[in-house]
Amino acid sequence: VKRLHSPSVSASGRPALVLGLLSGTSADGIDVALVRISGRPPSLSAKLLNFLSVPYPQRVRRVIFRVANLESTSTEEISQLNFLLGELFADAALKACRRFRVSPRRIALLGSHGQTIFHQGFPGPFLGGRRIASTLQIGEPAVIAERTGITTIADFRPADMAAGGQGAPLVPFVDYLLYRDSRRGRVALNIGGIANLTAIPAGATPADVLAFDTGPGNMVVDALLRHFSEGRRSFDRDARMARQGLLLPALLQELLKDSYFCKRPPKSCGREQFGEPFVRKLLAWGHENKARPEDLVHTATVLTAVTVVDALHRFVLPRSPVKQIIISGGGARNPLIAAQLAAGLPDIEIIPSASLGLPEDAKEAFAFAVLAYETWHGRPANLPRATGARHPAILGKVVHVARAH
Ligand SMILES: Nc1ncnc2c1ncn2[C@@H]1O[C@H](COP(=O)(O)OP(=O)(O)O)[C@@H](O)[C@H]1O
Ligand SMILES: [Mg+2]
Repeated sequence: VKRLHSPSVSASGRPALVLGLLSGTSADGIDVALVRISGRPPSLSAKLLNFLSVPYPQRVRRVIFRVANLESTSTEEISQLNFLLGELFADAALKACRRFRVSPRRIALLGSHGQTIFHQGFPGPFLGGRRIASTLQIGEPAVIAERTGITTIADFRPADMAAGGQGAPLVPFVDYLLYRDSRRGRVALNIGGIANLTAIPAGATPADVLAFDTGPGNMVVDALLRHFSEGRRSFDRDARMARQGLLLPALLQELLKDSYFCKRPPKSCGREQFGEPFVRKLLAWGHENKARPEDLVHTATVLTAVTVVDALHRFVLPRSPVKQIIISGGGARNPLIAAQLAAGLPDIEIIPSASLGLPEDAKEAFAFAVLAYETWHGRPANLPRATGARHPAILGKVVHVARAH
């Protein structure tokens, strides 16, 4: 790590060290990326220096799932959880600094996505009056700033939503900076709890970028594993269970009827669409048809790959050719998903993001470091075409710290 003389983010082009923090919809833990950033778009330069993932304690994860699945909670619980997660995010940031051997004093900025506990991208009727869309990421940034002493930027999504966007996806801005190519059309595909893609045509400008959530990533399979193992296992490591099963075509057809899949982009989804109720429906089908658990897991895994392939065929390939898919997120490590994608897209090269310098797990945390840097400089970082916003917006809220104490 190169030494910086001052931790301020200068406009002079001197590189700044920025931490990106994120916990995705899988709620598996807090990802921390240390990124060195300089310049400004389109020639912004950002390099991942280090990465660490800190798992959530089991009991915290359980509460997040309960709250995020719209099961019973209270304002007290949400308020307390907001501050507790602030502490855990700060702990993770400080742990990362120790591990990376970089003093927090040398970090100019911290970008924290927070933990999504509710996301409704499309406006819906509320209280019988106005239609409201809203989103809530928690993990109190004032606590993070106070504990780490680092200026913290958080709450990136609401500014886009206030401008009529869905507040998601936000990573495409960074995908564009990283992966645009003058000759090759490329797609960045991230398979987290939800799967999303960013399509960047050859020679694209930001206005040409199309991005949206394709549907479930690992969320449904994770829920099935938790169910069948009675909480002992939280995901299907290396698709061990899925690979013992077979595809249930009738179930797959049934699941593909979900109206989300044919909805046109811009679109985003979350636990509201593919959380508990969706899984209950799948389990009920399994019960009625006396299906084996491994067949249900196999079919849910195939659903992820099939809906990605389908989304590409419906919304991307008719407009512009794709030469390469750059895949990231925990689902990139699922061999059944990888095999199904390769089989469904025989003419497209699929490569892991690690082969372009960003490990599969690190990409989203990396992206929030870059988004924080852009916000700090007062530059918009949403792509209106991706989120549906009426105009570019400067994302996030800043918690300043008094550097002297
Ligand atoms: N070796 C693996 N085999 C299969 N699935 C994996 C593997 N490693 C990670 N995953 C999946 O990736 C998920 C975490 O992915 P992540 O990108 O962190 O998602 P999120 O952004 O939603 O937190 C895990 O819950 C699991 O389903
Ligand atoms: Mg995660």
